[in-house]
Amino acid sequence: MTEQKAQETQISDKTQISKKTIVVLVSGNGSNLQAIIDNIAQQRINAKITAVIANQGSAYGLVRAENAGIPALFIDHKSFSSREEYDTKLALCIDEFNPDLIVLAGFMRIFTPTFVEHFQGRLLNIHPSLLPKYKGLHTHQRSIDAGDDEHGASVHFVTPELDGGPVVLQSKVPVFEQQDAQELAERVQQQERQMYPLVIKWFCEDRLKMFENKAVLDNQILAEGGYAIG
Ligand code: GAR
Repeated sequence: MTEQKAQETQISDKTQISKKTIVVLVSGNGSNLQAIIDNIAQQRINAKITAVIANQGSAYGLVRAENAGIPALFIDHKSFSSREEYDTKLALCIDEFNPDLIVLAGFMRIFTPTFVEHFQGRLLNIHPSLLPKYKGLHTHQRSIDAGDDEHGASVHFVTPELDGGPVVLQSKVPVFEQQDAQELAERVQQQERQMYPLVIKWFCEDRLKMFENKAVLDNQILAEGGYAIG
């Protein structure tokens, strides 16, 4: 095959991947959502966000969605009598958009196994720790209290085990002496806004999948800490 022909084939292969659709779930500020919106606008990610759903009416992520012309929905978990009922409603709402990918961007709720299994393989989360360390809440303070030299964030596929699904990518920051949890969180979040769009880009290019509870990138099973350069 000539070089020109090879290039044409590559280009046509890329164009065959259709634009993916994404639903983003938020509970708060939505800075990760904004990073994804911006990366799509800059054509770094070939996708469209078809809805943003929040469980908190005050979530600034809803405003960010509206500003970007994305349908913004609020489903109040307090109006449901059980976790199962809320998750059923949420799953029905997401299914109406039939997304290729569901992105949890600071969505501060634990899901029922039924919800997770329904969306298995197309549910990504970002968690502010170097998993498997510090699952759950208050991760920055816990890292400081433990005297860690480094802390960070992880993007992972969601499985029924809380913050326990296979890691795709981690990003580390040093923990400085005298640094408080707020300062550390800000530095971790700067990393989050770089790494989450990158992982979503991989997914939207059909390069990233979950297979048998492992994260697989470019047909390679990723190690426990996910993809890392070097
Ligand atoms: C992010 O730091 C994210 O890692 C964390 O919430 C923040 C949301 O920020 N997620 C969790 O703690 C999930 N367990 P944002 O609303 O500005 O994107």
